[in-house]
Amino acid sequence: MSFASPVKASLNRIAFITGGAQGIGRAIATRLARDGYDIAIADIPQAQTKVDGVIDEIKSYGRQAISLHADVREPTQIESAIAQTVEQLGPRLFVSVANAGVTQVRPLLECTPEFIENEVRINLLGLMNTHIFAAKQMVKQGFGGRIIGAGSIASYRTAENLGPYGGTKFAVRGFTEVAAKEWAQYDIRVNAYGPGIVDTPMWDHIDRELAKIEGISVGEAKAVRVKRDIKLGRIQEPEDVAKLVSFLVSDEGEYITGQTIKSCGGASL
Ligand SMILES: NC(=O)c1ccc[n+]([C@@H]2O[C@H](COP(=O)([O-])OP(=O)(O)OC[C@H]3O[C@@H](n4cnc5c(N)ncnc54)[C@H](O)[C@@H]3O)[C@@H](O)[C@H]2O)c1
Repeated sequence: MSFASPVKASLNRIAFITGGAQGIGRAIATRLARDGYDIAIADIPQAQTKVDGVIDEIKSYGRQAISLHADVREPTQIESAIAQTVEQLGPRLFVSVANAGVTQVRPLLECTPEFIENEVRINLLGLMNTHIFAAKQMVKQGFGGRIIGAGSIASYRTAENLGPYGGTKFAVRGFTEVAAKEWAQYDIRVNAYGPGIVDTPMWDHIDRELAKIEGISVGEAKAVRVKRDIKLGRIQEPEDVAKLVSFLVSDEGEYITGQTIKSCGGASL
């Protein structure tokens, strides 16, 4: 299956993406670049080498691309990354994707307060703050925008051993709704993607942790779930999520707001 999409003409607009070094964030950044957006990627310093590779790919499409350091647990770092984006690329932020997230795998009775807090700070508070700082910039610019967040199939149905993760993703769905209501007046749409099992380093981590808990071999947890749950018969690729985001931010998606859209090959059925 080919995921290559055509490189289109410049839209003279910027897309800001957190956690764009790898996995789904990387696929969204490169897809939106091919769609015509200049790109700003905010990620943690440890991901810089990978981010450099994404920036090079985006520039090969003739787009502008910058990288910024932001740990989404720190609101000031998000605020500064968005400020630097418009400072370096101009006040034309049209898309913001709060993609950064982590999955910690542990039975609830073994979850420490620190473990839970870390997950909430990244997956939920990080997303809320990214959305709000982006929306403030969009309101200031005055030409609307598209705000996208990382939901999950877990925004609708949680899984054992992924309790705090499911809690954050349910909350993402709620926050997506309220932000869509409040910001419709500014011509800002707010939606979230809700993937199932995507072939990224995150799922490799989940698989290794589940193997320990369930006493099975590495690779088994993922293989069993893909075979049992995914009706379309193949694991989801990051580019499958990027296609949905590409649609949501396009003119074609302009009547959709407040939705967490399941994109999981039928795994939620
Ligand atoms: N992989 C899946 O199956 C799946 C399914 C549903 C939802 N999602 C969601 O999609 C998003 C991306 O998932 P992925 O599979 O690509 O993950 P991944 O682990 O492959 O990549 C996560 C990215 O986020 C960055 N990141 C981590 N902590 C950060 C922090 N504190 N501040 C800034 N950046 C940080 C990492 O450096 C990395 O670039 C996550 O929010 C995840 O919950 C993933």
